[in-house]
Amino acid sequence: MALYVHIPWCVRKCPYCDFNSHAAGAELPEEVYVDTLLADLAADLPAAHGRELVSIFFGGGTPSLFSARAFERLLDGIGRHLSFARDIEITLEANPGTFEQEKFADYRRLGINRLSIGVQSFQNAQLQALGRIHDAGEAIRAAGMARRAGFDNFNLDLMHGLPGQDLAGALADLRQAIALEPTHLSWYQLTLEPNTLFWSQPPEIPEDDLLWDIQEAGQTLLAAEGFVQYETSAYARNGRRARHNLNYWTFGDFLGIGAGAHAKLSDPHGRIRRTWKTRQPRDYLAPERRFQAGERLLEADELPFEFMMNALRLTEGVPAGLFGERTGLPLAGIAAPCAAARAAGLLENDPQRLRPTARGQLFLNDLLQYFLP
Ligand SMILES: C[S@@+](CC[C@H](N)C(=O)[O-])C[C@H]1O[C@@H](n2cnc3c(N)ncnc32)[C@H](O)[C@@H]1O
Ligand code: SF4
Repeated sequence: MALYVHIPWCVRKCPYCDFNSHAAGAELPEEVYVDTLLADLAADLPAAHGRELVSIFFGGGTPSLFSARAFERLLDGIGRHLSFARDIEITLEANPGTFEQEKFADYRRLGINRLSIGVQSFQNAQLQALGRIHDAGEAIRAAGMARRAGFDNFNLDLMHGLPGQDLAGALADLRQAIALEPTHLSWYQLTLEPNTLFWSQPPEIPEDDLLWDIQEAGQTLLAAEGFVQYETSAYARNGRRARHNLNYWTFGDFLGIGAGAHAKLSDPHGRIRRTWKTRQPRDYLAPERRFQAGERLLEADELPFEFMMNALRLTEGVPAGLFGERTGLPLAGIAAPCAAARAAGLLENDPQRLRPTARGQLFLNDLLQYFLP
């Protein structure tokens, strides 16, 4: 089981971002938020029935706005309730421009062993257009600081398909990222999301042909540099795949605490429940403390789609046996849609694995249609 912890504040809101993130006021309610997160976790414990954590992910928003002291209290509190696997992965999302060397070193001392740094681009004009609070120099320094603080495992988030970007610009960003020697790169294509400023005032983004060229050339460059693509947007070196995300993609269980956090848990009877927490930080922090905002028990006929929606994002797919393990359903129950997807050239013809073909990766939505209830 993994644990996701949401920190919903940023210095300011980026115009493309649809995450549950809010511009921080003059003062962050750090103490009370940590207390609330721990109360939220305590309320979830009965459903977690003493299971061990393989991963904790502090995501946001911008978790690096919080002090090391806040994470110390959090990790202590979590550790009092749940046991940690010996090789637990503990990731924290950081935004260049929100930390300094000492803070990084303190994070590392607390046992946080993976950083995910939001860079987006190394071109100052792009960073400005994206409303980022840092310039390219700060992003480069952030990677150096991470390394000096003892983080030998860190990810950089980059986006491509940016306003006015050409192929050379996108590849230059990748080359600069690779030069910083991260173990992992998340290389996202910018999407225009409803409820963002970019949706109501869309910038000019590259045409489809150029997006295609960027994608292809970027993948080739990353592969040549030893970054193995294991998911739509995720590339890892030396097997350093993100365990936290792998747990999502292999349909593993996870708890979620914090404003708007989602969770997925199987109970001892094999039923799978999805839950979500109150989204607005102010409501989440309200004295009534109603953490959970909703829940849904997944019906058996929804499980094939739910499972595939995650598993088929992985370029290698998953062992066929995992389907039964995670859903409690017989593999024979999806024999017909699998055969149809194989006939359409979207799923590999391998009885041992559920794995998308190159075409299936490209047309994932078409592939998933076969598994709809
Ligand atoms: C929660 S943020 C990462 C940490 C931190 N908030 C930051 O931005 O530096 C997660 C990542 O999602 C990506 N992202 C956010 N909105 C996106 C969009 N509309 N299209 C593509 N990627 C997006 C960005 O690369 C971002 O770094
Ligand atoms: S991209 Fe990151 S920094 Fe920007 S608003 Fe979203 S969560 Fe905050």
